[in-house]
Amino acid sequence: MKALSKLAQSVRASTTIEIDTKYKRMKADGIDVIGFGMGEPDFNTPENVKQAGIRAIENNLTRYTPAAGTMDVRNAVSYRLKEDWGLEYATDEIVVTGGAKHMVYVVLKALVNPGDEVILPAPYWVTYYEAIKMVGGVPVILETTAETGLKITPELLKEAICLETKAIILNNPSNPSGIMYTKEELEALAQVCVEGDTYIIADEIYDKLVFDGQAFTPIATLGEEVKERTILINGVSKTYAMTGWRIGYACGRKDIMKVISNYLSHCMSGTASMAQAAAVEALTGPQDSVEAMRQEFQTRRDYMYARIENIPGVSAIKSPATFYMFMNLDGYIGKKLYGVPVRDADDFANLLLEKGLVAVVPGTGFGAPNYVRWSFAVSMENIEKGMDRLEAFLDGAQAEEIAHFNFDLDAAQSEMAALEAFIEANRAAYEAELAAEQAAKEAEAKGDLLS
Ligand SMILES: Cc1ncc(COP(=O)(O)O)c(C=O)c1O
Repeated sequence: MKALSKLAQSVRASTTIEIDTKYKRMKADGIDVIGFGMGEPDFNTPENVKQAGIRAIENNLTRYTPAAGTMDVRNAVSYRLKEDWGLEYATDEIVVTGGAKHMVYVVLKALVNPGDEVILPAPYWVTYYEAIKMVGGVPVILETTAETGLKITPELLKEAICLETKAIILNNPSNPSGIMYTKEELEALAQVCVEGDTYIIADEIYDKLVFDGQAFTPIATLGEEVKERTILINGVSKTYAMTGWRIGYACGRKDIMKVISNYLSHCMSGTASMAQAAAVEALTGPQDSVEAMRQEFQTRRDYMYARIENIPGVSAIKSPATFYMFMNLDGYIGKKLYGVPVRDADDFANLLLEKGLVAVVPGTGFGAPNYVRWSFAVSMENIEKGMDRLEAFLDGAQAEEIAHFNFDLDAAQSEMAALEAFIEANRAAYEAELAAEQAAKEAEAKGDLLS
């Protein structure tokens, strides 16, 4: 039989799901393991929102909706953005689909030609990297350092922008690191994007989970020039504990939203009608449940951070937002724990799962091999247990230096080079295919003229 699509086969499974699967298997086997892997609130969808979904079914709102979403849900998005940030989007500047994740893919599909570069600051949500590849784009990773607080700088961005650059994906606040850019930092980055004629895909899905009274700035509020090149992505999953309802949206220029809506009309036909009705209630109804969840997340973050900071060899970023804590492993990378070499976060996470019975997500898939991500969308009781287990796991480990550590680093680098060569080869194949298509069209047109 003929081979499957090379491009599709180059897409890796989400690492966040992989670790969760392993953890679930252990749990199913009766092992007392605690999971800090998945990225969804552990709260229930607020009652008023659930009731709105039930009412929609009872009232027979069970048919296809417009591809871009119902007028009601687009009005609700428009209302919330105006209410929260003073942002003005008309209903034809808004498209709703089955989750922000799907929207990331569709937005990339609307913007990117095969071979176009998309800038991705590291650490990045693993889906972005794969989604860029899925549309035939080339991910250009911008490495960051602890010194810049895992943030990119305008200088770094300027250097990365070239003729092939189509867009940057700016996820603020960030999954996995929990960091958040200030208004001033965003202004400087936005200026570089305007000068470099680069679209800004702004995934702001954690905009409401911000701690310590800090101000969040949606990048589209930074003036018309910035707004018109920004595609704002958001959804109800994280803010309203609605991950299973599958509602995400994008806002931006009417012409871009039209392309997205046309595309969706062939691959979606509108997301679930009752979920759209529930989202209307979430976005326009009482918002007190959002604040209650935010406060609980902040309490858990404070506890987790204080515990990690007291454990030798690891440290954490005190997440200003999201429900993730990024833990640095520099003190253990390149050592043996329990006789097992810890070359990167994958090794550490596997060992912690096996010996410590705690599941965290290795940063390797996020472009941050010296970090693991803890989710604090987990009960306080389990966070306390998890921190006890981390402490015991590291206390019990005799950390020994690894000899010949560089050998493994070399292997990882050559693996990376092979992957880059593969992407490059794909790009060439795409370009050749496009050229052939174009030539065929021209030949056909010529034929038409002659006949
Ligand atoms: C940064 C980011 N964007 C989007 C999503 C997906 O959201 P949705 O449930 O709306 O697809 C996630 C979920 O983990 C996320 O972390």
